[in-house]
Amino acid sequence: MAAPHKRLLLLHGPNLNLLGTREPAIYGTATLADHVSRATAAARSLGYEADSEQSNDLGALIGIVHQAGVRYAGIVLNAGAFTHFAWSLHDALKSVGLPVVEVHLSNPAAREPWRHESVIAPVAIGSIAGFGGESYVLGVQALVRYLESK
Ligand code: DQA
Repeated sequence: MAAPHKRLLLLHGPNLNLLGTREPAIYGTATLADHVSRATAAARSLGYEADSEQSNDLGALIGIVHQAGVRYAGIVLNAGAFTHFAWSLHDALKSVGLPVVEVHLSNPAAREPWRHESVIAPVAIGSIAGFGGESYVLGVQALVRYLESK
């Protein structure tokens, strides 16, 4: 098992378990497992391991973030719709202090106004949105570059 400093968490919020069949015109037809396998391969090629967790439950996600503090070097997070209002998730990320890269398959800034605010962005190193599954790969690459620059 890779040491925590060489291990990343890919964390996915609500409804992302439905990728593949969920609104394919927006999110495509690849499943979450497809995205995770590409992102994990990207991490491995850079010398990192990656684990993946998904939950539709805000409290469960917060619990996972708390645990992540001792297990991982950083988080690639697609918080789904929690992105836009879940200040408790914002606070959890801030409390743990791990580097976070926010990712989205779609580009929320180009969608409905309620998707334009992200409460994750202020506690993230940066955000990657609009590149479909490539957003996860780019998120992993950006996080590893950040970690290696420390
Ligand atoms: C999403 C964008 C969110 O606005 C939406 O609620 C999702 C998916 C994305 O990956 O594009 O569930 O995070």
